Amino acid sequence: MAKNSLRVKKIKEIYYGFLSERPKNFNTATDKTQHQIVYIVKLRFFMKEKLELILKEASEEINNSNNLTELEDVKVKYLSRKGELNSIKKNLKDLSDEEKRTIGSLANNISNQLNEMISAKNQELYRIELNKKLINEKIDITLPSDYRPQGKIHPLTQTINEIVEIFQGLGFSVMPSEYSPEVETEYINFDMLNFPPNHPAKDMQDTFYTKTAPNVILRSQTSGAQIRQMLNKKPPLRVISPGRVYRCESVSARKNNLFHQIEGLMVDTDITFADLKGVLNEFVRIYFGSSRPTRFRASYFPFTEPSAEVDVQCIMCQGKGCRTCSGTGWLEVLGAGMVHYNVLKNVGIDPEIYSGFAFGMGVERLTMLKYAINDIRLFFNNDTRFLNQF
Ligand code: DAH
Repeated sequence: MAKNSLRVKKIKEIYYGFLSERPKNFNTATDKTQHQIVYIVKLRFFMKEKLELILKEASEEINNSNNLTELEDVKVKYLSRKGELNSIKKNLKDLSDEEKRTIGSLANNISNQLNEMISAKNQELYRIELNKKLINEKIDITLPSDYRPQGKIHPLTQTINEIVEIFQGLGFSVMPSEYSPEVETEYINFDMLNFPPNHPAKDMQDTFYTKTAPNVILRSQTSGAQIRQMLNKKPPLRVISPGRVYRCESVSARKNNLFHQIEGLMVDTDITFADLKGVLNEFVRIYFGSSRPTRFRASYFPFTEPSAEVDVQCIMCQGKGCRTCSGTGWLEVLGAGMVHYNVLKNVGIDPEIYSGFAFGMGVERLTMLKYAINDIRLFFNNDTRFLNQF
């Protein structure tokens, strides 16, 4: 530091002496010294000048800024690392310590002044822009609001969830969805389930066939899921599988082309009809309430032997007989039976070692019975007046 100020002092002496003696003639000094002298003097003199000029120009530009972007540009031009003030500060190194202090503090002072001016202007411009925005984006609060009512879980989904939960409580788990595709082969939907080749359910009137591939259908029942489950997993099995099924029927208050079923399957050693009755009675008791009697009626399905249909006492007339139960006092709620010997053989499960029971129920029917709904089409019309009641 001392060295530096000495150097400047020396230069000053030379310069002033030099000026008084030979103001216009530089011949006696070496080129280098001349150069240094002129440079330092210019620097000293012009730095102050320059700083004052910066202050003047920058203040004008700040005042003339019309928006925040312009103001930001001014800030970058003068105050950023590569801005004009900094480039002056970089030259300070060639000055004496004292000059560094004066010029340095002048530069800082100017930088502070400019920063203050910029932030004041910033606030002013921000307020102007905000006001402009508020005027342009003014909202008419007297307009009716964009009301979006909250959705609800569809009653059929509610029923499925409820039934799934009941069976989970009885130790059943839900089959992986890849075991129950809605687009299915005739082979899985019928043949593997022991349907004889000419079974009327395979008729074009009952099942939707596709034109894309022979024997590809929209499944008419969820029972095919049993087959896929048994082909993929060995007993013990205790599974259910809810899903959509399709039938080519004319739509009415009781029938729709699309409806939902829940399939159930239990296979293990020593499974008997008593297990079937126990599980399904328990299901009905939980779903309809403990006071509702059930009845097992002999029936026929190709994939079960023996087969049964399960009825519950009519919820409308408590068994006395009415229009809903066609005077019988009973409502059919599901089909069931012991898995047929041939079905077990078809999927490679030894019927001499294993036995099982299966069941299938219609979700729409169970929902209609529970809530006394008289038209299946209500589920599919998307009328919120209906759906909101669940
Ligand atoms: N798949 C039958 C139907 O759609 C219902 C059914 C009955 C399923 C008995 C079963 C069963 O698993 O064992 O009508």
